[in-house]
Amino acid sequence: MSLTEDESEPPAEDTQSYGRVGVTFGDVGTTSLKFNVSSPVNKGEYIQIAHPNIGWVLGQIDKIERQSDLSVDKAEELNDGKEVDIDDTVIAKVNIIGYRDEKDLLRVPGNPFRAGEPVYLAEEELIREVLGLKEDKEGAYIGKLRGHDIRVSMNINTIAQKHLSVLAKTGSGKSYTAGVLIEEMLKNDVTMVILDPHGEYSSIAKSGSPKSSENFDVEPRGYGEKLNEFSPNPDINPNCQPLKFTFRNMDTKEVLEMCGLNKRKTYISSLEDAKSKLAASHGEFTVSEIIRLLKNNEEGGSTTLIKGLERLKEKNIFAGKGTRMDELVNEGRASIVNLKGTPPDMQGFIVDKIARSIFELRKREKIPPLIMFAEEAHNFCPQRGKVECSDTFRTLASEGRKFGLGLGIITQRPAKVDKNVLSQCNTQIILKVTNPNDLKAIEKSVEGMTKGMKKEIKRLPVGEAILSGAGLSEPLLVQIRPRESKDGGESICVI
Ligand SMILES: Nc1ncnc2c1ncn2[C@@H]1O[C@H](COP(=O)(O)OP(=O)(O)O)[C@@H](O)[C@H]1O
Ligand SMILES: [Mg+2]
Repeated sequence: MSLTEDESEPPAEDTQSYGRVGVTFGDVGTTSLKFNVSSPVNKGEYIQIAHPNIGWVLGQIDKIERQSDLSVDKAEELNDGKEVDIDDTVIAKVNIIGYRDEKDLLRVPGNPFRAGEPVYLAEEELIREVLGLKEDKEGAYIGKLRGHDIRVSMNINTIAQKHLSVLAKTGSGKSYTAGVLIEEMLKNDVTMVILDPHGEYSSIAKSGSPKSSENFDVEPRGYGEKLNEFSPNPDINPNCQPLKFTFRNMDTKEVLEMCGLNKRKTYISSLEDAKSKLAASHGEFTVSEIIRLLKNNEEGGSTTLIKGLERLKEKNIFAGKGTRMDELVNEGRASIVNLKGTPPDMQGFIVDKIARSIFELRKREKIPPLIMFAEEAHNFCPQRGKVECSDTFRTLASEGRKFGLGLGIITQRPAKVDKNVLSQCNTQIILKVTNPNDLKAIEKSVEGMTKGMKKEIKRLPVGEAILSGAGLSEPLLVQIRPRESKDGGESICVI
């Protein structure tokens, strides 16, 4: 078979010989092949091989195995100290990734490679070209391809349009990685709302330590000038602006639910009467004013209702005039909703109010397009059971993209997140996961993951991730870049 004379024709043998790692043998396919390993290579490494009609094609080692003729009997002889001849060969199995055609589309060959064809370690230029890892102006620089000096960026618009999930067990670096993404988005003036149950993201305002940035071209930097922080508990979180909701805008039935009362007709009518009286005389009013009015009521207000409202008042999340959502969302900036110290039932309510208002305002284009990150998302959109914001998250996941509202789901329990929400997240950052149910949930939601990669998820060290979607042609193993800003999740030492 003769080779075509085009530019992609493989160069003469000697120019590549430094990186030659073996030769194909046995059954050689179009999308997978095997080669005997003549120089050390590792699982996950990229290789290149010449195809008779195409030129260089990129592949990745999915499995390596030493095959030997050592039988159990002979192993026993070895054990007894006898000398035994062992014939062995190391075999690597390759998944073919493909090549770029004249339209720059990723393709795999239509007919097989040759048997006996040399296999080489891939040159960085070919890896960049085939994987589409060119510099992207709208890219979020997440880290480097594992084992290579090649930057990996994810397209920010695609992330926003197709939703994102960051999945990993506790302590594997979810919050750290989400922080990297948020830094990149702030650099690109992306508007964000960050739902932060533990107050981990406040530290993005501060600069990180300089020594952590070697090899990644990362300069320490804080983003204080691009962050606003809100909290229902400014007493606990003193750097935050207060986050309050307008009591007048509350639905009566919702108020009763929050008071822990059933929706009895008498409660509904007393509360509605009191609300309309105060609205007529004051316009704005507080929970205290409702309580006062009910206490002064000639017929004597229901003590149960009054007690319920007193409990609600203690939660301290209502005001005559609440925080306006178009003040919470700021163009080109991130607003952290710091829920540290807020009880879980109130968190669900607060998140629901915010998410619903943002969605409504986005529909009417009253606020700029934005991305909403939800940390510990399994609490806001659980697969089993229901919380206040369950339905809202489903709606955002299925309809948000039409209105320029992207979702970023961060969770340590992918299996416990509503499948309807998770399946809509087409960009994934997966760090170490070991729970079998979580692994199953991930496998179902990620396309193009090889068997080798599935196994790899369980063994990923802290700081490494599998990236999928967002303009990447296929899932990639990436070393996450160091943070520019201070890491808010650093473990606390007890000694
Ligand atoms: N890419 C990384 N480089 C360096 N340290 C990291 C990286 N990712 C995580 N860490 C560290 O690992 C620990 C756990 O990270 P964290 O983001 O809090 O995990 P998670 O949110 O998944 O529980 C933290 O101490 C953090 O500083
Ligand atoms: Mg975390």
